[in-house]
Amino acid sequence: MEWIAKWLKPTVDFGDVPPVYVKNFKLAGTVRRASLFITALGVYEAKLNGRRVGDFILAPGWTAYRKRLQYQEYDVTQLLQEQNELCVTVGKGWYRSRLTSIDRERQLELMKSPPGLLAQLALTYADGSRDILVTDESWCVREGPVRFSELYDGEIYDGNREEEAAECRGTESFEGPFETLIPQEGEEIRRQERIAAARLIRTPKGETVLDFGQEIAGYVAVTVKARKGERVDLSFAEVLDKEGNFYTENYRTAQCRYHYICREGLQTYEPHLTFWGFRYIRVNQFPGGGDMVQPECFTAVVLQSRMNRTGYLSCSDPLLNRFFENVIWGQKGNFIDVPTDCPQRDERLGWTGDAQVFVRAACLNYDAEKFFAKWLADMKAEQKENGSVGLIIPDVLWSVNPSAAWGDAATICPWQVYLAYGNVRILEQQYSCMCGWVDYITGATKDRYLWTGGEHCGDWLGLDAPAGSYRGSSREDFIASAFYAYSTSLVIKAGHVLGRDVSSYEALYGKILETFRSTYPVYHTQTECVLAAFFGLAQDCQAAADQLAEMIMDCGIQLMTGFVGTPYLLHVLSDYGYTELAYTLLLRREYPSWLYPVTKGATTVWEHWDGIRENGDFWSADMNSFNHYAYGSVTDWVYTVAAGIRIREEYPGYEKVTIAPVPDSRLEWLEAIVDTRHGQIRSRWQRREGGWRYEITVPVEGEIVIHGKPRTVGPGSYLFYSPLK
Ligand code: BGC
Repeated sequence: MEWIAKWLKPTVDFGDVPPVYVKNFKLAGTVRRASLFITALGVYEAKLNGRRVGDFILAPGWTAYRKRLQYQEYDVTQLLQEQNELCVTVGKGWYRSRLTSIDRERQLELMKSPPGLLAQLALTYADGSRDILVTDESWCVREGPVRFSELYDGEIYDGNREEEAAECRGTESFEGPFETLIPQEGEEIRRQERIAAARLIRTPKGETVLDFGQEIAGYVAVTVKARKGERVDLSFAEVLDKEGNFYTENYRTAQCRYHYICREGLQTYEPHLTFWGFRYIRVNQFPGGGDMVQPECFTAVVLQSRMNRTGYLSCSDPLLNRFFENVIWGQKGNFIDVPTDCPQRDERLGWTGDAQVFVRAACLNYDAEKFFAKWLADMKAEQKENGSVGLIIPDVLWSVNPSAAWGDAATICPWQVYLAYGNVRILEQQYSCMCGWVDYITGATKDRYLWTGGEHCGDWLGLDAPAGSYRGSSREDFIASAFYAYSTSLVIKAGHVLGRDVSSYEALYGKILETFRSTYPVYHTQTECVLAAFFGLAQDCQAAADQLAEMIMDCGIQLMTGFVGTPYLLHVLSDYGYTELAYTLLLRREYPSWLYPVTKGATTVWEHWDGIRENGDFWSADMNSFNHYAYGSVTDWVYTVAAGIRIREEYPGYEKVTIAPVPDSRLEWLEAIVDTRHGQIRSRWQRREGGWRYEITVPVEGEIVIHGKPRTVGPGSYLFYSPLK
């Protein structure tokens, strides 16, 4: 792509007001095709002759801007007329909003950038001649109806400015980024669903609150009849407190407001330059006062990166079904161009640990290959020269040391994406980044063949954390060394797939294993047992799993694990003969468990096992998101063990499959469907007349294992029976 256009900015400072760039032009004849190439330092919304260009909300998306900035191409042929007006609003978006509450220095650099726009419109006329219209100083810029727009703090919109043509100001070109421009790589963020307000609530404090019945990420469309200048003012929240009042403390410094100044008459407005994570809205101001608020005035609009849904879980337990739904909603709300920790408070960042924890479930639920490929390319771009990978990608924290189980997203995510879709390209793209991460650890450790002396997040939010700490009590060097081994093993596997020489990593792996075994002969926590067994590091993995089972029993059949141990916990139990115990944990309704939040009305997955306590208190205001997908990772166990849909590493992408369902008599039935690149896999079991009945469909050759007995099958649908036990 050859850029002739210039980066434009207004000649005057627009402050918080997103500028609207305007170009009027006349066509020289009939146009056969018109393509608009466009990007911005911020997020843009383009309109040609009053009609929106494309459906990408929050374009150009979020990338490691210093290295990569996407541009988009839209076919705008149908939007053209003889005389045209192209208007582009540029909001702050991820580029220029404040991001993180932790260390803003790195982001400050970007925040100081102008609200730049770069666009060129390529026209091909019916007679074959061509013309090109580019951003240059002939464009003007004016203030538009959006008065303020920022990711954490929300939006202010003045509907009266839609009609009032504001004063046109000049534009000037500046040295904007060209070397970093790349064509669109990720999935577009689109409006996916609309949800009507389910309930109007007057809270004990007398506030007017609407409940959409589902926590989402997106925005609210408002339809209202008003007098000019009347106002709609909304606040957003995930939960009500135990008294039933609107609760926003857990958004921390994120203001999450939406303020709309009305025109005269009936009007509808949808903000497009920001988004919120919420289930409830509080109506602070409304034309005619709170009594005029009707649920019909508000519609929640769900935003998500466009991905095809591929996985479905259902079973006979309504609570577990609701949990499955919550996991899907967790993915919807946190797959907005970047896999984020949460969509609401002053974070919404691409935390690497969270992504590696959830990647397996994510790739079962949705076709997320393109989504991850783009994010991993950003990771590679952000990787430091010494191989270190940041805690978040895009890395707005830069200064912070890397952490085990977070940086390991560099090896785990590409490997899982490869297994899910069978496409070697992700390994080709990421292999150097994978090796770089392992090499970083090799260079950074204090003690050879382990990773000691680093600064880590530990078993984040583990229940065995000492009072006042977020870090579980598993030893951090233990976790770091275990992941060092695991990442090295994945580099070796990826290298084999790619036909690379991995002999040095094989030698390294042998040494790590040996050193790990001699340094850590005993395990102190559930998570330590889980890692030792799941990564195959224990001298005796069965003994590690036995110890894990014992520890679970000893504390009243409950898990104590955090972000690091939880994803593998049930796998270790079922791999080593404790499937019934794994089901017990999955089906447990009391705190701590996956279903406890569901008993408390959760519609997404909580960050904390006890985000809301039994007595209705919040565990804290500081770190208490109600839409954090990490613990939703357990659904990968449901797909792959309970329903038994297994990926075979030698046949990635389900080219050949193994289906080995494991029923449990506390459920009547369970079903999983996965739409793979080779067709649909379905596995269902149901209790019938003293036994189990299995219905299994495979689109490819495979092995079906029922009650321990394997059979080789071709593509087709099959029925099997087995005794109850
Ligand atoms: C995020 C987490 C993240 C963690 C690591 C939190 O603030 O929300 O999900 O992984 O920090 O320190």
